[in-house]
Amino acid sequence: MATQRTLCIIKPDAVEKGATGQILDRIQREGFRVLGLRQLRLSRRQAEGFYAVHRERPFFDELCTFMSRGPVVVAALERDNAVEHWRRVIGATDPAKAEAGTIRKQFGASVGENAVHGSDSEENGRIECAYFFAGVDLIG
Ligand code: CMP
Repeated sequence: MATQRTLCIIKPDAVEKGATGQILDRIQREGFRVLGLRQLRLSRRQAEGFYAVHRERPFFDELCTFMSRGPVVVAALERDNAVEHWRRVIGATDPAKAEAGTIRKQFGASVGENAVHGSDSEENGRIECAYFFAGVDLIG
């Protein structure tokens, strides 16, 4: 299985709950290499740019308001089969449907406030890591 990159965002709800450390610990226990790690507060414009693919969806405004309400932690992750593995670890978008042991089951509250993000394809993993990290800032 090929080495891939995926982007993790620890969303404002999870940062507010003090879950950052537990989620970073899980990332390491799952065998990911952390290539880059930043805490920042997204501007409204940054949130809209990141989620531009959802621009026409009814939840877009709510999503961008939520994502810019407080600090997030973004992590560029690498491992074999990173995209699928991280999506399995975080669980279904709706925490109520997420399997036991997943991060969204543990920390998510609703489909909107669902604790973490994961890229949905290898291509988006690369694009999303580049959204937050310059190449020189990633551990090669
Ligand atoms: P994420 O994996 O970050 O990618 C898109 C996000 O949109 C998703 O997580 C959810 O947090 C959010 N989302 C998806 N569906 C809804 C919805 N019906 N209402 C509010 N937010 C949603």
